[in-house]
Amino acid sequence: MSDFYALVPAAGSGSRMSSELPKQYLDLAGRPMIYHALTTLCACPNIKTVFVVLAPDDEHFKRYDWSHCAGKLEPLYCGGATRAESVSNGLLSSELEPNDWVLVHDAARPCLSAHLLSRMIAELRDDPVGGILAVPVADTLKRGDAQQRIAHTEPRENLWQAQTPQMFRAGLLAQALQQCKSVTDEASAIEALGLQPRLVGSDSSNFKVTYPQDIVLAELLLNQRK
Ligand code: CTP
Ligand code: MG
Repeated sequence: MSDFYALVPAAGSGSRMSSELPKQYLDLAGRPMIYHALTTLCACPNIKTVFVVLAPDDEHFKRYDWSHCAGKLEPLYCGGATRAESVSNGLLSSELEPNDWVLVHDAARPCLSAHLLSRMIAELRDDPVGGILAVPVADTLKRGDAQQRIAHTEPRENLWQAQTPQMFRAGLLAQALQQCKSVTDEASAIEALGLQPRLVGSDSSNFKVTYPQDIVLAELLLNQRK
């Protein structure tokens, strides 16, 4: 039997948010953004430890009270220059067994629900490769040209938007990220090994808070759940 762990990259600066404070610490429904996903992950009975990858000079994390996380939370001050580097460094520091499952989840997806999290674990725990939460693309997709005019319409059949968590065996993921450093998600590194991660149907509530206007929407969702 292998164990389940979560690893949360939280060493970014949030440049598209244009705020002084790193995005993951901005106030969201009365808490720092990072509080929400960490609380959901720590409350999941399947998950043994939640590793949080912080910037080496992070001064914010330790200012908050994490006692409700019941000793499951382990900060690692080894964030890198890119998200992939932060995840890779975190995997090395976490000293997981190669066969352990690790769920990598963005600190900037505060609205992950307990329900989606447990469904994903149930759907993937016997999978030979692992997989990710994702949503089928709903909008019509346009390919633009350099003049910002429509070059053509892209068929959206079988197109999905990738989210997190992304759940893989720790050994396979570490190896994949070693070989493929320029990826924007874990699945891309696994794909580069010639494997096909599974797509687990999610919904748009698990969106990534990226721009200032996303804060309002995330607060609406979080306050509704309180
Ligand atoms: N992240 C990280 N290390 C980095 C860059 C990003 O751990 N060097 C984390 C972020 O903190 C975030 C997650 O990866 O939780 C998703 O990244 P993103 O939403 O792009 O956050 P930022 O990179 O901080 O934002 P931006 O791209 O706007 O600068
Ligand atoms: Mg980024």
